[in-house]
Amino acid sequence: MKNKETIFVCNNCGNEFSKWMGQCSSCGEWNSLKEVSAKFLGNSKTKNQTKIINRVEGKLEVKNLANLHQDFGVAMENVGTFSTGISEFNRVLGKGIVQGSAVLFAGEPGIGKSTLLTQLVGKIGGLYVAGEESAEQIGLRVKRLGLNPNNFDILGTNSIDELEDFLNRTQNVYKIAVVDSIQVMSSENTSGVIGSVSQIKESAFRLIQMAKKFGIAIFIVGHVTKDGDIAGPKLLEHMVDTVLYFEGEKNGDLRILRTSKNRFGPTDEVGVFKMEEKGLREIKSEEINLIENGESKIGSAITVVMEGTRPMMLEIQALVIESFAPMPKRIFAGIDYNRGQLITAIAQKSLGIPLYKYDVFISVTGGIKIEETAADLAVLAAIWSSYKNLPLTPPLTKGGESKSLPVYIGEVSLLGEVKKVRNWEKRQKEATGLGRKVVEMKNVRALLH
Ligand code: TYD
Ligand code: MG
Repeated sequence: MKNKETIFVCNNCGNEFSKWMGQCSSCGEWNSLKEVSAKFLGNSKTKNQTKIINRVEGKLEVKNLANLHQDFGVAMENVGTFSTGISEFNRVLGKGIVQGSAVLFAGEPGIGKSTLLTQLVGKIGGLYVAGEESAEQIGLRVKRLGLNPNNFDILGTNSIDELEDFLNRTQNVYKIAVVDSIQVMSSENTSGVIGSVSQIKESAFRLIQMAKKFGIAIFIVGHVTKDGDIAGPKLLEHMVDTVLYFEGEKNGDLRILRTSKNRFGPTDEVGVFKMEEKGLREIKSEEINLIENGESKIGSAITVVMEGTRPMMLEIQALVIESFAPMPKRIFAGIDYNRGQLITAIAQKSLGIPLYKYDVFISVTGGIKIEETAADLAVLAAIWSSYKNLPLTPPLTKGGESKSLPVYIGEVSLLGEVKKVRNWEKRQKEATGLGRKVVEMKNVRALLH
């Protein structure tokens, strides 16, 4: 008999079902339903949310858009925005922080979310709602980062209700508030334990209401939970105005701030930072090149990828060795697994490398994840170099051999044709500027000569 105490929750959209399905009938995601106990879930969502809407907005009222200007005394195109004081952060947000907006700031535990948001508050001053750490711990971080303690008001609470009371009393004092993190906030208005789906959704809903009501930009920290865990930031993406992801390889020190949703600005910009002893340092375009100059190494190929609107030179390394396993290994770090498989297959067919009996390992420097096909050719070239046990040679020029080290840019088709990619000129300029030369080829077979 079915246990009434458990229920199935979609990890993607948060909808609840009484029985398991392979595909969520609400959002269409596959394999996203997880069994949870009713205690973890809470059940008073709808009733309470109606209550809150009434409380926050008073009586229901309809506003005609034409009157909005007079009503609020603000020009629509002029909703207040202000600078973060950190130019890489501004770049990602577009115009800066939008007054009264709710920003989800997501990332894996330990990646540096609290560090960057502490730096943000240090620059412009604001409220830091500390649910995870004590005021002392934050004080230590502020000191370590060399920030001005006067800029920090720390509210140590896990209660959304307390926070709302506090903001009610301190109206118009703060321009920004950081809530660190959503996973430890809860409200008496709903059931479910801290960190449960119902508490997280209720807390986020209330924070968004507060952002609008008090005109405070609220940065909501959300830990990206392990694959398969429910109650991660994904649940909240559709509710907030802006979703930022802070990413990077934990062992490396490079961090990338990416927008995955932005109601007020671009979604294709990224901010680049380096985690250092004294916090996150902005990396300017000129510094973004991750390559040490030197000679070509066996199994290494250089490419230029676009991070937002900026070109970035990267090294791809390949290790191709004879396999003694029944199924040769394919281990790819920094490139998509399926894309890697495809390039391995193309290498076998177009370059004639018998990869079916070789293990292939690929990695990308700096812990960067490449999400575009422009690096295909470099991956292929690195595989070729490792297999042949020869470094890639500088491209030939009319007058003889060129001294510039080679750079490989291009998407590779199933037939081995090399296609030009977007922002070609920008990438080429970056490579040339750093004393290298882009190898032009129409087909990957050109590597054989
Ligand atoms: P943190 O911001 O606490 O991560 P999150 O809030 O995303 O969980 O960052 C934690 C890591 O950053 C920790 O391993 C120490 C490191 N760190 C530095 O290297 N330099 C610094 O100045 C700070 C504050 C942290
Ligand atoms: Mg933290």
